[in-house]
Amino acid sequence: MRIMSSPIKASHGAAYSRILGVGGARGNRVVDNAEMCTIIDSSDEWIQQRTGISERRWVDDEQTALTLATEAARKAIERSGVATDQIDAVLVSSVSNERRFPSLSVQVASELGLDNPAATDLQAACAGFCYGVSLADSMVRTGSAHYVLVVGVEVLSKQTDFSDRSTAFLFGDGAGAVVIGPSEVPGIGPAVWGSEINTGEIIHSDEFEVAVAGGFSPKIHMEGNKVFRWATTYIVEKTVETLEAAGLTPEELDVFIPHQANNRITDAMLRRLKLPDDVVVSRDIKMMGNASAASVPIAMEALLESGEAKPGDNALIIGFGAGLVYAGQVVVLP
Ligand code: UT7
Repeated sequence: MRIMSSPIKASHGAAYSRILGVGGARGNRVVDNAEMCTIIDSSDEWIQQRTGISERRWVDDEQTALTLATEAARKAIERSGVATDQIDAVLVSSVSNERRFPSLSVQVASELGLDNPAATDLQAACAGFCYGVSLADSMVRTGSAHYVLVVGVEVLSKQTDFSDRSTAFLFGDGAGAVVIGPSEVPGIGPAVWGSEINTGEIIHSDEFEVAVAGGFSPKIHMEGNKVFRWATTYIVEKTVETLEAAGLTPEELDVFIPHQANNRITDAMLRRLKLPDDVVVSRDIKMMGNASAASVPIAMEALLESGEAKPGDNALIIGFGAGLVYAGQVVVLP
């Protein structure tokens, strides 16, 4: 049946959206490659050459995904200047919720004393933060929310298979958060996002029931070579598409913050993007390892705090990982 008119009201929001504030939190425990090599058969030289990682951050006994997410979110809200009672939606992306429910989003909202916002968790692994940014952008522009808190948080040290030396040295624990709200000019470019079907086993975790029955917690398993090839071919092209979708030339980009998975992947992206030498490129992986959904916002905070990147800079961000899934966009830094 063709509907010619409808009594349903539709919401309308702001013309554009932008990131208003960013915050991060890192695991308190610094685990350098020397310590890692007491756990796995490897060397500082091999790890640095293959990935760029010198050390990674793990949670201490007091820290959890919830405490990290709350710390990062509190900083992002303070820096945004938005009152807590104005945050009307929370999106947390994570593969590290210790319980299947309640969601981390509702728990973070409770810790921060927010005013009963819409709250839900996302699961897009290492692309999760960038998925959250584009969903929040849509929410602000359609009027379904005014100010959205987007968080990426992971505690991967608890999910690491230390019997697998090809992945055990990679992972870090942390959280990054942004507040996204209305803007008079575009502050978030179009999403370039998608999935690669029939690739679920390439990066996967143990099934919960199998792990419980076996008396262990679910661990991450990854065929690193296959992900590396995908990232350095298909995802490299997606970085170019992301820049084009925002209508920018390489010369108009100020900052590049790819998911911190491997410096060699970042290098492959740079070769293809042909960015000018003065574009600031995140290498946060060196001190952090791969913190999945947290990696992009944590790196964003670090570049702003160090002064390497400035408020108002155009930054290309892109996440990719288990699914396989990816998402990228150009954003204006807060
Ligand atoms: O965050 C989600 C997205 N994830 C990614 O994008 C990760 C993508 N993958 C990677 O970054 C890389 O595949 C890894 C860093 C995970 C692994 O590096 P690789 O260069 O692909 O190593 P490999 O697994 O192919 O192993 C190469 C060699 C092997 O030796 P042979 O067979 O060539 O003699 C391994 O046994 O390196 C050996 N090896 C190691 N040697 C020292 C593997 N792990 C280690 C180790 N220390 N930790």
